[in-house]
This record gives sequence, structure tokens and C-alpha cells, in this order.
Amino acid sequence: MNTTIELNTPLTLPCGATVPNRLVKAAMSEALGTLDNRMTEGLVRVYQRWAEGGIGLNITGNIMIDRRARAEPGNIVIEDDRDMPLLKKWAQAGQSNGNKIWVQINHPGKQCPKAMNKETVSPSAIPFRKDLQMMFGTPRALTEHEIFNIIERWGRAAKICKDAGFDGVQIHGAHGYLISQFLSPHHNQRTDQWGGNAENRRRFVLAVYDEVRRQVGPEFPVGIKLNSADFQKGGFSEEESLEVIQALEARGIDLIEVSGGTYEAPVMTGATGHKKESTIQREAYFMDFTDKVRKVSKVPLMLTGGFRSLHGMRDALNSGGVDLIGLARSVAIEPELPNRLLDGNEALYPVKPLTTGLKAVDGSGLLEIQWYTRQIKRMAKGKNPVPNEHPVLVLIAYLFESGWGLFKARKLRA
Ligand SMILES: Cc1cc2nc3c(=O)[nH]c(=O)nc-3n(C[C@H](O)[C@H](O)[C@H](O)COP(=O)(O)O)c2cc1C
Repeated sequence: MNTTIELNTPLTLPCGATVPNRLVKAAMSEALGTLDNRMTEGLVRVYQRWAEGGIGLNITGNIMIDRRARAEPGNIVIEDDRDMPLLKKWAQAGQSNGNKIWVQINHPGKQCPKAMNKETVSPSAIPFRKDLQMMFGTPRALTEHEIFNIIERWGRAAKICKDAGFDGVQIHGAHGYLISQFLSPHHNQRTDQWGGNAENRRRFVLAVYDEVRRQVGPEFPVGIKLNSADFQKGGFSEEESLEVIQALEARGIDLIEVSGGTYEAPVMTGATGHKKESTIQREAYFMDFTDKVRKVSKVPLMLTGGFRSLHGMRDALNSGGVDLIGLARSVAIEPELPNRLLDGNEALYPVKPLTTGLKAVDGSGLLEIQWYTRQIKRMAKGKNPVPNEHPVLVLIAYLFESGWGLFKARKLRA
């Protein structure tokens, strides 16, 4: 007889650590760092609020491991322990309700705006799609020496997070950033040991995992966010993703979060209308893929993208495919949503499509990111999110602030 999994059922991970309930706040970049990418008190405030809202595990927005590679103004960079006192405060705020907090660590590779970075790096020097070339330059191919340096940086950042008191780390291996670029036959056209076939393309992600594990030890949770596929011609496929998952499971990874897409195909927020009939029925965007994972792997799985209703979440947990439910936008507008869901209530403010009427903006994912970041920034100031804020107002504010932010970041660029 199968036992029903409830949202408040704890989950034990392979390393022995537990997650107190099945609701996870997926990573959302907060853009709350200083101009020179240091920690701020705003982060402490917003994570305190999410902790009080009942989330079981909170995964921070992506933190950069190299200040020469920053994805947006306000990113936090962790290369050494200069921010240790505030990092400790951040970890404590995230744990204040008995919940767990992990840090998402990232290297964006070529997905760094031109205005902020002197040059960008990637496995190969492949330019962006034409319409994105204004924003993103053609990267330089990494040397082997640089590849080893970046792998070591991933481990170092993870160890600093552990020392600061965070409960775990998540490697960002999705959404077209550096690990994603190594995994993609389109972005990785190397002919050395890091490219040329699927086994070589996954060498980088496995080396990053091994280094992180080496630096944090066997009992500290290490997870990864991975694309089910890139949704891009010639990109990372579901078949290769299944192989990567099996290789990571064999090495002892604690959690795999499934997502999908890149800046060139931003399906992670559903912005490009990636909605099969099965997705509409089952709510979550990538659930067909987690069903496939379950056929070949027992690794703990978190699924993110599209969860909105109690029914959808319970169905996913009890379908046997998914162990943890990832929530992003819904907890940016309703930080207390986990408590409501755990009490059996639906969201007060369901996530709605955002539209400005401008085709270029509405399909790009940019509006989604900026609108929700603004709500997070409100919480960082001790205010409430505004679930009905008009998207056009947010866009105007973003254009004004980002123009100024990019200008200042450019002056400081490393
Ligand atoms: C404002 C914002 C920032 C995001 N930042 C990150 C990030 O730093 N790392 C990441 O893996 N995903 C990031 N995402 C993607 C979310 O984690 C999630 O995959 C996506 O929003 C789909 O989930 P949802 O339908 O519950 O919102 C971000 C999404 C939003 C809206």
C-alpha cells in the first residue's frame, strides 16, 4: 500500500540531512547586492520574511563565483570570506523558523551583459542569436587552465557558504549559464577532453560537483539545477540530460531540480508559451520529463515551473516522480503562501500572465524577471509586495534604474 505524501511530510536526502516540508522557494535573483557586489541587510530582511512564511527550503538567488563574470547589477560575488559577518546573518535569518537555506552558486559564462564585463568566456566562441548581440558579446573560449580555476572557485564558494552556516548549496547547471554551455553541443564545440561528445561535454559538470563535494564533505547537502533540455536547435537534449542525472546520482548528489531553457529560449518562466496539452492538465512545465527521470533514477527530484494549485502540487508529489515542489513567482508576491498551502488553502494572489502590449518585451522573459525582482526589493525594504502592480510602470522604472545601474556597474567593471 502506498502512503500519501503530504506537503508537510519531511524529506531525508542521501547525505542524511532533512528538508522539513515539501515546499521549496526556487532561486530568484534578488539583485540586492551593492555596486561592488557585496552582501546587504536587505537580503537578511527578505529571507527572514520568507522563513516566517513557512517555506521548508529556501534556495537563494544565484551568487557569482567570479567577479569578472556577473550576470546583472546587484549580484553578490563570493570569492573569499570578506562578507562573512553578513553571510552568517543571512543564513540565520533563513533558518529562523526551523527551515533550511541553501545558496545557489553560479558562473554565467557568456550570459553576462557587455556593459558590465570586459569580456565573457564560454567553452567555445559562439556568438549569440542576432537580436541578443546588442546586449551580449561573443565570448572567448576558455583555456584549460581557466577551466580548472573555475572548477576550484565553485568549491571555494561552497565551502565559504558552509562556513557561514548555510544548510547546503545548489550548483546552477541550468538556464544557459556556464555549466549549461558546456553541456550544449551548440555552445560547446571544443575538440579537447571538454567537448566533442556527450561524455566529454558532461566532464565539466561532474568535475564541478566533485570539487564542491571535496570541499564541503560528505554530510553537507549539494544539489544542482539542471535543464531537462535547452529548447534550442542543436542544444542539450532530454536524452543527454537523463545521462547527466544518472552520472550525478552515481556520485551521490543530494537533489536535482529540473528546469529548462536559456536566455535564447526562456521557457523556464513559461514566457514563450511552452505549453503542451499535458502541461496544461498537470500545471508544472517539465513534469513529463520528471516521469522519464523516475524510470531511470531514484535521485531526490525537485520540479520548478508552473506550480499554482494545491491539487497540482499534491498530484506531482504522489505521482511518484517528484519529491519537492519548487515555487518562485508565487512566493515573490505572497511570501506567506507556504503556510497557507500547508493549512490546505489556495493562494490569495495567483500568478497571472504579465503583459504590456509590447510584443518584444512580453515574449522575452525580461518583464517577468523585472516585475518579480521589484516585489522582492519591496520586501527587502520591509514593505509588502504589490500583486496587482501595472507591468508598464515596472518596465519604465526598470529602464530608468537599469540604465543608471548598468552605467555605474560599467564604471566599476572588473
Ligand atoms: C525574478 C526572478 C529571478 C530568477 N532568478 C533565478 C536564479 O537566480 N536562479 C535560477 O535558477 N532561477 C531563477 N529564476 C527562475 C525560477 O527559479 C523558476 O525556475 C521560474 O520562475 C519558474 O518557476 P515559477 O513558475 O514557480 O515562477 C528566476 C525567476 C524570477 C521570476
